[in-house]
Amino acid sequence: MSLDINALLEKLTLEEKVSLLSGGSAWYTQPIERLGIPKILMTDGPIGLRLSRDHEGISEDTLGNLEKSTAYPCSSAIASTFNEKLVESVGREIARQFQEHGVSLLLAPGINGKRTPLCGRNFEYMSEDPYLSGRMAVSYINGVQSLGVGTTLKHYVANDQENKRFTVNAVVEDRALREIYLAPFEMAVKEANPWAVMGSYNRVNGVHCCENRTLLLDVLREEWEFDGLVVSDWTAITDKVASIKNGCDLEMPGPSMRDQEVLDAFNKGDLTITDIDARVRRVLQFVDRAIENKKEVNVDYARAHEFSRKAAEEAIVLLKNEDVILPLQADLKIAVLGEQAADVMQGGGCAKLDPERISTPLDELRKRNPDLVYARGYTGDEVDERLIQEAKLVAAEAHVALVFVGTTSAIESEGFDRTNMRMADSHLALINEVTKVNRNVIVLISSGAAVEVHQFGQDVKAIFQLWYPGQAAGEALVRLIYGEVSPSGKLSETFPVHLENTPTFDNGHVNAEEVTYKEGLQVGYRYYDTKKIPVQYPFGFGLSYTSFEYSNLELSSTGLKNDDLLEVTLDVTNSGGVKGKESVQVYVHDVRSQYPRPVQELKGFAKVELEPGETKRVTVLLNERAFAYFVPHLNDFAVETGEFEIRVGASSRDIRLTESVQFKSEDSVTIPLTDRDSVLDWLSNPESSDRMRTVMNDRFGGPYRTDSSI
Ligand code: BGC
Repeated sequence: MSLDINALLEKLTLEEKVSLLSGGSAWYTQPIERLGIPKILMTDGPIGLRLSRDHEGISEDTLGNLEKSTAYPCSSAIASTFNEKLVESVGREIARQFQEHGVSLLLAPGINGKRTPLCGRNFEYMSEDPYLSGRMAVSYINGVQSLGVGTTLKHYVANDQENKRFTVNAVVEDRALREIYLAPFEMAVKEANPWAVMGSYNRVNGVHCCENRTLLLDVLREEWEFDGLVVSDWTAITDKVASIKNGCDLEMPGPSMRDQEVLDAFNKGDLTITDIDARVRRVLQFVDRAIENKKEVNVDYARAHEFSRKAAEEAIVLLKNEDVILPLQADLKIAVLGEQAADVMQGGGCAKLDPERISTPLDELRKRNPDLVYARGYTGDEVDERLIQEAKLVAAEAHVALVFVGTTSAIESEGFDRTNMRMADSHLALINEVTKVNRNVIVLISSGAAVEVHQFGQDVKAIFQLWYPGQAAGEALVRLIYGEVSPSGKLSETFPVHLENTPTFDNGHVNAEEVTYKEGLQVGYRYYDTKKIPVQYPFGFGLSYTSFEYSNLELSSTGLKNDDLLEVTLDVTNSGGVKGKESVQVYVHDVRSQYPRPVQELKGFAKVELEPGETKRVTVLLNERAFAYFVPHLNDFAVETGEFEIRVGASSRDIRLTESVQFKSEDSVTIPLTDRDSVLDWLSNPESSDRMRTVMNDRFGGPYRTDSSI
């Protein structure tokens, strides 16, 4: 069955139309039974199905009240795989469980920017880099939607902190908004066509996102040609009439208390039937899509768990491996320390779900190594001397001590931001004390975002960043620890040394009604690399049990013009002793530009698997956008004529090969000159210099040159 939308628009009464513009309940759209319009179910995301057993009513949504489902690694982890195919298959597996429960719309992925490591929801977002976020979102969306479940790209836009999240006004200048914050949304909308986009709670440049004409109608609908549903975040609408006028189709949750307000506005002539019909049409199109795509599926939970393990295996990042302590020999006596070894961590809020099964690191390590010794080491944040002493005794007896630390859903969560990047004192004390009795300490960090490691980094042999690794954490980790698979995750965000080094230290975690994005484009590695600030671990960094060599970089052309594609090709060789995967990253550096630009930006990547000794030729394509920046006076992306360096590396700080290309652009990026500009400006401007020189020569005799020595 599908809906005849034009006929329905004729038959619906005004009241029915208005009622369709908000949900019928917490998780459903409004049904209109007399016309055969059913209610459609939606729920969160992003690491799997989070469905309240009470979804027919207004649910309490407590964890105990959720359907069980497979928990996949969190979004920062997923992005650290740098593996688009893998992310697509995770999306497909998640969608199966949505179909099984009759849920048509997944309220994910979240692709907000990470301007500060302190944002409470960073674990729900992909990366500090808009290109990586965008690519990962495209893969995730393609995977989910290939099974007939819609996705919701959220939170549109500049919802980059949790403090004051309902009201904060993000003041963002055009270039940063376009190049950093809107760019991943743009890529996902244009390349993957999500069924929905969720308007966020906050304001952008003074206007709430769900009422923001520029963002919803001019950019999303007109420029990007988005044809899906614009849904509000839960209770994000502050002015219902303005939201309808300015492009928000569906208010959630429902039922709305404001239908009468809408009817009154219509009667007064403040809203037209064209405004209302435009929104109703989008809601009906969404309902139609949902009906058309409903499928009977069977979920194989064991297989879903396998996929979660595979994703975790590629997401976990090996940050340090001194003396090649890893992989561990099977017969070494190990001590497992820290309460978190006996659990699988998740972030807090609407992304938290009730895992269908859990393989904890402790259980899985014990299967391999029944003689291991375990001590809890801490409980909560306060240092507990008795637990630490117990852990030290155990650690002193073992060859190797594996210390599990990190953050919890009480620290990283929706609804509030972290106040610092430190791990709890109890965790730091445990590591510190254990290093006094055991020289082979391996630290395993569960967190959804960067934490400080300088307090212990020097004293331990190895560090694994697990992220929030999902329900199969234990199985994935054991395979990595014992070398059945080589680590291949790379950091989707920089690990700064100190919070004070971060670009938003002054204003990244303020509890104010207005936050100005003073750092502009300088977010994440763009900032650290441009300003040459030392970092703990750079963006894109991750170790392996093997080594990779990069050689024979070739560009398909040394000269480019608008619309051209550049093929960047190189050889990657596995020069070590075991099979492994490498994520090759391509950064673009604009050698000289009229406007300030970050020193380099990620514009492509590829992950390759190689046997020892094997070489593969890898190709990464760069299109015009890879060289462009947003030019405010053109209100568009444009490329400046000149030289660009193509930098190929294993992280943003480990560039292995570079080549140059000249771009001859037809775009006029120069701000148009006026009669208030100086003769020197007219002479130095490439677009006016010839004409100006002729005029000057004719008038005053020449010769006049175009540089400042005239
Ligand atoms: C969150 C959204 C979520 C919605 C429904 C809101 O509070 O910001 O991300 O999808 O609730 O749970």
